Amino acid sequence: MSILLTGGAGYIGSTVASILKDEGEEVIILDNLTRSKKEYLPNGIKFYEGDIDDISLLEKIYNEEKIDAIMHFAAFIEVGESVIEPYRYYENNFSKAIKFFNYFIEKGIKKIIFSSTAAVYGEPQYIPIDENHIKNPTNPYGMSKLFVERFLESVERSSDVYHVALRYFNASGAYHNFGENHKPETHLIPIILEVALGLRDKIFINGDDYDTVDGTCIRDYIHVYDIAKAHLLAYRYLSNNKQSLKVNLGSGEGYSILDIIESCRKVTGAEIPVEIRERRDGDPSTLIASSNTAEAVLGWRREYLTVDAIIESAWKYHKEKFESSK
Ligand SMILES: NC(=O)c1ccc[n+]([C@@H]2O[C@H](COP(=O)([O-])OP(=O)(O)OC[C@H]3O[C@@H](n4cnc5c(N)ncnc54)[C@H](O)[C@@H]3O)[C@@H](O)[C@H]2O)c1
Repeated sequence: MSILLTGGAGYIGSTVASILKDEGEEVIILDNLTRSKKEYLPNGIKFYEGDIDDISLLEKIYNEEKIDAIMHFAAFIEVGESVIEPYRYYENNFSKAIKFFNYFIEKGIKKIIFSSTAAVYGEPQYIPIDENHIKNPTNPYGMSKLFVERFLESVERSSDVYHVALRYFNASGAYHNFGENHKPETHLIPIILEVALGLRDKIFINGDDYDTVDGTCIRDYIHVYDIAKAHLLAYRYLSNNKQSLKVNLGSGEGYSILDIIESCRKVTGAEIPVEIRERRDGDPSTLIASSNTAEAVLGWRREYLTVDAIIESAWKYHKEKFESSK
């Protein structure tokens, strides 16, 4: 039996697919390559190129494969873009996703693992954020993910289809040749590392007047390898339990943008010039996870315990990518 993994050419999906395969799971990938490239796909995994809402392609996949579970990563992921183009986010991340899920639910699939996000919470009422925290997304990206969670809850109420929604905080770092390579890239660590490599002049900080220790936004960084391990545990959980779960994946520690820049300076030895500009719409000031549920219920343990270790892995990946592109 196979796990159908959507978005498997992307940053997190490709890493998870590769690790699942190494752990002996059968995986197949569906991706339309709108935000990635074929060359990012892990070796030795069957790939279907196309959109999650292409019903004739889903029919083909269903007829050719024996699918036991779905891991749904495919989505647009840029907060700023979602504020400017909300329709595209609701369409891709919500409308298409529920059409996709519905197809496989009607075919009898019972296990769904969904890539959700810390962005479902919005501005925190307390820190660290646990899974019961009020959900009040401050941007269409977060809202589109919350809608999918609500859909899956409704499905569970009327059927025996169970899900684990994994709410990642800031996915970061690299695992072997799988690293952060978004198009466009808006995530902090890869952008800073591009400055260190001389591919950008400086790093722009979007606002230094937030209510935080140094005025810049605080986030919780979690290594993509640790995220991948949580998917395996979530799959095993759904194989043994008839109950859905919402699970935060974070470190429980917050780092400001200036902290991350400082750590990148330490790891790379580069100067990394900075320019402050206006706040960006839709950014909460502080997001720090409580990952007690992941630890207590899934038995999850992080292996990457410091941001320096996360940044070192990302730096190795970006340096090698840069060298091989010369
Ligand atoms: N990167 C993070 O820090 C982070 C944090 C929280 C949650 N997430 C979630 O994790 C998932 C993966 O994120 P990522 O960083 O790997 O993003 P990514 O952009 O690298 O990968 C997404 C992949 O999905 C594919 N895709 C998008 N729409 C599709 C569609 N309609 N049909 C088929 N394929 C489609 C893209 O081509 C891409 O390969 C997303 O659902 C995202 O919301 C990411």
